[in-house]
Amino acid sequence: MYSEKVMDHFQNPRNVGEIENASGMGTVGNAKCGDIMRMYLDIDENQVIREVKFKTFGCGAAVATSSMATELVKGKTVQEAMQITNQAVAEALDGLPPVKMHCSLLAEEAIHAALWDYAQKNHITIEGLSKPKTDIGEEEEDEEY
Ligand code: FES
Repeated sequence: MYSEKVMDHFQNPRNVGEIENASGMGTVGNAKCGDIMRMYLDIDENQVIREVKFKTFGCGAAVATSSMATELVKGKTVQEAMQITNQAVAEALDGLPPVKMHCSLLAEEAIHAALWDYAQKNHITIEGLSKPKTDIGEEEEDEEY
């Protein structure tokens, strides 16, 4: 059912953790299943994403897609990161079963939510980025996912 890459990223997820004083942080939830993902970005003065970490409280496909998403955005500029869709993440994993495609949306939304936070903090506009609907914000700040 799952590709080897999905299994690999599920069993050995890359970039798990958090970044203190992150340039941007976003937390999103999937209303269908209740799964949650938080993404941290460290972005330098040239708008290059130097470091990225994530925490996911969710299914295997959500873990694998967030792991792959972090690998894809690392080293990219903010604008390049905006081009990374959930489809691109799923393709990089050699596909996901159709019923699991919604899980890959979490990764895309978490990146966007973290970029939104970064843009807000720095008073900049990122082309194509709109306020994340599913950002559940700071209120669960102290919870460990
Ligand atoms: Fe919830 Fe996959 S079932 S993100």
